[in-house]
Amino acid sequence: MTLKRKLIVQHLELVYIFKYLFFVGLYAASLPHRDPAKFSLGSMVDATMSMIHPVVAAGSNRCEAFKSFFGITYEQMQEKNKTNFQDILNIDLITKTGNIKYNLTASHRLTRVMAQAQTIVILIHGFMESSDGWMVQAIAPEMLKKPNTQLFALDGRKIINIEYFRSSTYVRFMGEILGEFLSDIIRDGQDPTRIYIIGHSLGSHIAGVAGKRVRELTGEQIGRITALDPAGPCFSNVSASGRLDRSDAKYVDVIHSNGGMLGLKEPVGHKDFYPNGGASQPGCYISVCDHSRAWELFAESISSPKHFPARKCENWTMFGQGFCSRNPISYMGLESDSTYPGLYFLATKKSAPFGLGSAGSG
Ligand SMILES: *[C@@H]1O[C@H](CO)[C@@H](O)[C@H](O)[C@H]1NC(C)=O
Ligand SMILES: *[C@@H]1O[C@H](CO)[C@@H](O)[C@H](O)[C@H]1NC(C)=O
Ligand SMILES: *[C@@H]1O[C@H](CO)[C@@H](O)[C@H](O)[C@H]1NC(C)=O
Ligand SMILES: *[C@@H]1O[C@H](CO)[C@@H](O)[C@H](O)[C@H]1NC(C)=O
Repeated sequence: MTLKRKLIVQHLELVYIFKYLFFVGLYAASLPHRDPAKFSLGSMVDATMSMIHPVVAAGSNRCEAFKSFFGITYEQMQEKNKTNFQDILNIDLITKTGNIKYNLTASHRLTRVMAQAQTIVILIHGFMESSDGWMVQAIAPEMLKKPNTQLFALDGRKIINIEYFRSSTYVRFMGEILGEFLSDIIRDGQDPTRIYIIGHSLGSHIAGVAGKRVRELTGEQIGRITALDPAGPCFSNVSASGRLDRSDAKYVDVIHSNGGMLGLKEPVGHKDFYPNGGASQPGCYISVCDHSRAWELFAESISSPKHFPARKCENWTMFGQGFCSRNPISYMGLESDSTYPGLYFLATKKSAPFGLGSAGSG
């Protein structure tokens, strides 16, 4: 690496650190307006992404260049055996009385537990979150009420933390390990269509990689992936093999809440929902709030399935001008189904309960 390039990279790191501190300050300043309980320190740090976004928003090309500079592309990490993921990647069985941790590789016990369920639901958290973080806490209590379902949460808190670029590579390793595990239980008789993964941010892409791996190894597709504002930086403008894609499950539904910043803007599912246009959300002042809104809306949809009717339309402008008011309606959230694939738009309120019912669908 030439001296000049070295300096540029060091400079970028400094910018990164500086912006990070800046953002923590900004967050603190914004607290009186917000419900602080909803945002962990982890998801708050997620906000730094909007600051380094210009570095990576330009697309995968620059992100990959940046990563190869630091030796943290998938290929480079594979060569160096940087981490033994198998030891630090866990999966929790979520029960009404608490989480029970399982080792994803020492899978015999876990296989037995899973075999008792008809439907397996796996929640996957985002950058700097965990299997008992805010996203899981918002979704799990309602999900636990569903019959014949066993609920799990992947725990990558020791892996996708601190450094976003490195984490964006770890996504692939984690997804592969999960996909290999799911393939094993499918071979043991689990019905693949009864496997449902719900991922937020980086977790959406982990779900995607797992779905691809299952397909490679078993020739089968898992039933459904719900992506809650899939991570954008390093995953936008890349080919379908490098991110979540509609071919990763029989049905892929996506809620975009911070598209173009922390989230992906482009449609990647069978159905892509864009609440309030999909870029920013009412009542939010910082990106991390917009980004988290996707799981807040999804959580609400579990107990209130009719809160979020959305209208099929080409874009937010057309929706706003009423050009789509005769198009089909589809419910966003848990009850969403695969009929009439396409792009869907709706408006929501700025605080919970967010759903506007039919008033939100134009
Ligand atoms: C997006 O991807 C295309 C094709 O891979 C590439 O030519 C283009 O430069 C990319 N755009 C950006 C902004 O990275
Ligand atoms: C280490 O890397 C080699 C070659 O890429 C690979 O075959 C092996 O499975 C890796 N081992 C671990 C523990 O990741
Ligand atoms: C998980 O299992 C692997 C292989 O059996 C073992 O090496 C590792 O120490 C276990 N990790 C934990 C946290 O139990
Ligand atoms: C929305 O869609 C219409 C019809 O396809 C198109 O003319 C318009 O340019 C689009 N607007 C935006 C902002 O993309």
